Amino acid sequence: MEPMEFVPQTGAGKRVCIVGASGKLGRYMVQHALDRGYEVVGVCREKSVPKLDDYADRITVIGGRTNDREVIERAVDGCDAVLSVLVPWGVHDYSSGTARAVMDFAKPGARLVFSCGWHITRDGRDKYSRGIKAAIAFAKLMRITRLVDIADQYRAADLIFNSDTRWTLVRGSDLEEGPAQGLPVWSRHVGDPVLESNMTRRTDFARFMVEAAENDELVHEAPAINGCKTPSALAHASESA
Ligand SMILES: NC(=O)c1ccc[n+]([C@@H]2O[C@H](COP(=O)([O-])OP(=O)(O)OC[C@H]3O[C@@H](n4cnc5c(N)ncnc54)[C@H](OP(=O)(O)O)[C@@H]3O)[C@@H](O)[C@H]2O)c1
Repeated sequence: MEPMEFVPQTGAGKRVCIVGASGKLGRYMVQHALDRGYEVVGVCREKSVPKLDDYADRITVIGGRTNDREVIERAVDGCDAVLSVLVPWGVHDYSSGTARAVMDFAKPGARLVFSCGWHITRDGRDKYSRGIKAAIAFAKLMRITRLVDIADQYRAADLIFNSDTRWTLVRGSDLEEGPAQGLPVWSRHVGDPVLESNMTRRTDFARFMVEAAENDELVHEAPAINGCKTPSALAHASESA
């Protein structure tokens, strides 16, 4: 039997809101937050509330769209941290509306941690491979389907970068499922050697989001993350950040 890992109770006595709690990343974040002793409030679409049934007696779930300002105002009330999954669904400002509502209603001084992908750039100094550039171009074209509007995720990021709240924007690499490997490594720019492998386990991404809420060094940072056991992370770990 594997020995039980000791998890520091950094969330004891604190309340965290997880916006987008029913998704794959969201459910991992709920588990990591509970493991750390947080009181958890989750927000997800009404129709997705049953996806959180396993946690029904341990968390408070608020059903509603994540860019609904009244829903977010209620959900973040009294929270010490808000962890938000930013997704560019539809063409009605889902990402930017979510980010704006969280920043408008979270209590002053709350830690705000947002998720996105490597495509978001803070200072234009990220260096993308041809494959990533093609994926970004394709995602932009998808707007004609009206299912996805990646430009809105860029708008959300701009709102966050220009905010004086205590934000962190975590930029995820390609993701895979699988058992936890440990806290991902991070760097300020895509293209840095430590990130080359471009693969993170979703559960480790979620752990990074939850632990970021306790890490003041990540305030006003947009860390691009990569799995700590990937070849590039192992080869270049000492150069990260
Ligand atoms: N997928 C990747 O390869 C990848 C790579 C890098 C970074 N990321 C980032 O990681 C985060 C999580 O992404 P994920 O791919 O792992 O997905 P995910 O955790 O499953 O999250 C998808 C979210 O979108 C919601 N959603 C799905 N369809 C929707 C719709 N039509 N309208 C409104 N909301 C809808 C889901 O809520 P319901 O439960 O209600 O459906 C869920 O909260 C995102 O911030 C993403 O930018 C993803």
